[in-house]
Amino acid sequence: MTVRFSDIIGKDEKKEKENDTVAPEERQGEPPAAPERGPEAERMSNSQILRTDEIGDIPDPFSTDRYSEKIRSTYQALLERAREVRDRVKANQGVGHSPILSLLHEIVAEDLIDPLYEYAISIPDGKGLPSHCVCVTLAAMKVGRGLGYDTKKLLRLGLAAFLENVGMYKIPEHILEKKEKLTKEELETIRNHPQISAQILAQMGDAFQWLAQVASQVHERADGSGYPNGLRGNQITEAASIIGLVDTYVAMIKKRPYRDKIMESEAVKFLVELGKGKFPRKVVKEFLNQISLFPINTYVRLNNQSIGRVIHTDKAQPLRPTIELIYDGLGQRLEKGEVIHLAATPLLHIVDTIDDKELR
Ligand SMILES: [Fe+2]
Repeated sequence: MTVRFSDIIGKDEKKEKENDTVAPEERQGEPPAAPERGPEAERMSNSQILRTDEIGDIPDPFSTDRYSEKIRSTYQALLERAREVRDRVKANQGVGHSPILSLLHEIVAEDLIDPLYEYAISIPDGKGLPSHCVCVTLAAMKVGRGLGYDTKKLLRLGLAAFLENVGMYKIPEHILEKKEKLTKEELETIRNHPQISAQILAQMGDAFQWLAQVASQVHERADGSGYPNGLRGNQITEAASIIGLVDTYVAMIKKRPYRDKIMESEAVKFLVELGKGKFPRKVVKEFLNQISLFPINTYVRLNNQSIGRVIHTDKAQPLRPTIELIYDGLGQRLEKGEVIHLAATPLLHIVDTIDDKELR
């Protein structure tokens, strides 16, 4: 299906009637606070199963061999577009929508959202805002597609996710990179970024006012706890709710200057437990449906104490992915990766995820 750009940019975003809500706490405006690692995680840190003298030949968890050239090149193209946006915003030049929409359209038409998302989140420390923006765009599009958006609506959501954070490029880097607690003034500066984003996007013309509106609402929360205007419920567009939720999630699972990354399964738990009332229930539900607790390349421990790496996920059985075993239940390194299809092995199940640092 071909969608004209004018179709996408010209319409007002419909407000969601959904008033029912759920979701997370954020740290100081942008990324959220790290949840405490529980005793279980501590126990795994000290695990005798993982002997560091044996880890030399563990398969690279971020090996990209499995991804086709198409995925790699499309991801690079997205990243390039995001960097162009950054450079143009920093240089006070206008932001163009056409190259981004062309790329997003190709991604939708060729059904590349899922593999691209998996690839984007598997890249270690995809550093900086441009790579964050690419992950957020793909995650938002997964949720939108899951909610049944048609191509036009999906492209609008993708474009909004791609551009919502442009105001952050106007925040001094010493604040963004700061490891210590932010001062009140610095926090104010960061909290000002949705309005800056909206101002920049509004300069794109009348046809883009909806884009500016979404950007200004991404940090609003349904219970009124967000900023800048403390909007509530269906005062917040569905696009802003989706982007706000996935933005928080992606910020958690990626490394930050002031903290390490959080495992996906912990991040999801954290979002669901602490986020109650902050996002529409419908959006949270679809997010949980779309985002795998055990994405490809996650290390997991099974109930028989063996350890392996997720190599394939099945949406129908999200808790039972396919695993390549690395250590058996006695802690013996396995020479040849044995593959276990958990979906077909009812006696085995995942009991924990393991930080890849512990295997390196
Ligand atoms: Fe933001």
